[in-house]
Amino acid sequence: MSKTLQAIRGMNDILPDQSPLWRYFEGTVASLLDGYGYRQIRMPIVEATELFKRSIGEVTDIVEKEMYTFDDRNGDSLTLRPEGTASCVRAVLEHGLSNNGQVQKLWYIGPMFRHERPQKGRYRQFHQIGVEVFNLAGPDIDAELILLTWRLWGVLGIRDAVTLELNSLGTSEARATYRNALVDYLAVRGEQLDEDSKRRLATNPLRILDSKVPETQALLVDAPKLANYLDDESQVHFDGLKARLDAAGIPYVINTKLVRGLDYYSKTVFEWVTDQLGAQGTVCAGGRYDGLVEQMGGKPTTGVGFAMGIERLILLLETLQQVPEAINRQVDVYLCALGEAAELEGLALAERLRDQLPGLRLQVNAGAGNFKTQLKKADKSGALYALVMGEDELVQQVIGFKPLRGQGEQDNIAWAGLSQHLAACLKQA
Ligand code: HAM
Repeated sequence: MSKTLQAIRGMNDILPDQSPLWRYFEGTVASLLDGYGYRQIRMPIVEATELFKRSIGEVTDIVEKEMYTFDDRNGDSLTLRPEGTASCVRAVLEHGLSNNGQVQKLWYIGPMFRHERPQKGRYRQFHQIGVEVFNLAGPDIDAELILLTWRLWGVLGIRDAVTLELNSLGTSEARATYRNALVDYLAVRGEQLDEDSKRRLATNPLRILDSKVPETQALLVDAPKLANYLDDESQVHFDGLKARLDAAGIPYVINTKLVRGLDYYSKTVFEWVTDQLGAQGTVCAGGRYDGLVEQMGGKPTTGVGFAMGIERLILLLETLQQVPEAINRQVDVYLCALGEAAELEGLALAERLRDQLPGLRLQVNAGAGNFKTQLKKADKSGALYALVMGEDELVQQVIGFKPLRGQGEQDNIAWAGLSQHLAACLKQA
């Protein structure tokens, strides 16, 4: 017997039972972003491998060991995008969207691919909603990004479970000076470093700061601090951001070890973390990348953004039981009909109702069955009301109107007045 085919490890189906929650989450974020004046951009899922190497950095975990890279039939090296910022910058440059200092406030949604070890909250295909802003250099826009995520946590009912961690990486010059100081400090203590950190000392020493190995962390206690190497401009920017967050009453903690796993950041970096999901606690992360557009071949253009992991936020909503009851109701009304003539009239009536009440979620029974069976299906559908059409109703030009959730008795309603009656009942529901 042939083996049953399965989805690729770390790549998940989102089944119909889960979809309402995804749609609720995505819809909530989309309308919030609309409300702040962000416009959606949609980029391809596959890009030239070179794009990610140049933007994310050759010696990052993502580029070194996590990308899904393959040669296409022309022999070009392509990669399934591991994140959205690089593609967004590429698209902005390619279409001149940031020319002449034009401000762009963009957002995107979609699948990303990283060959990581799958576990709860960490997958090989996962989904992000990301935001990127171009040509706004001040801390006011950094603050706006944080404010809008804070509002989102409020709308979703998860504010109490997330903490904002904030740091500034300074300009690339300041970081280079700091990098040298850190390497000098660690080089003489090299033997005490864990294997990963030893390797990073030569390639990407700042990443040693967020090592999870206790001995390495102990070694870092007396290491030079990035905060002491910040250039004036970055310090002023960071103070400006903190002042705005203080004024808006948004709590945060400064985490001087927050360096992020992608190379393009400068100045502000931040992460929203939760302790409710185990090891994969970062639900949203981002920062400023003022040098990236130029590095990718464009004119100097500032950039700042973030991306949130949809799977992690959905897990958090479930963990905190913040899934609104109403999103699981997919059907308002279920129409049952018994006998061919009643079925025909029922179908026509249903179409008239759809004309009269746009947005009505009406399911017409299919697959026949006696009234008992049909009413069982009506109940299971989650509908608030069943409409019942039999021989008698047909003759009298009425329909049985049966509340399914204990909102009163069954009644007969004339066809002519049905849409009005239904609209009034649904409004109250
Ligand atoms: P990132 O920190 O690599 O940043 O990812 C952002 C978020 O995506 C994470 O905080 C997490 O919620 C989610 N995420 C990442 N990897 C996985 C995974 N394997 N499984 C599930 N969720 C995951 C970026 O991607 C940057 N492009 C963010 C950004 C935008 N910075 C500036 N603009």
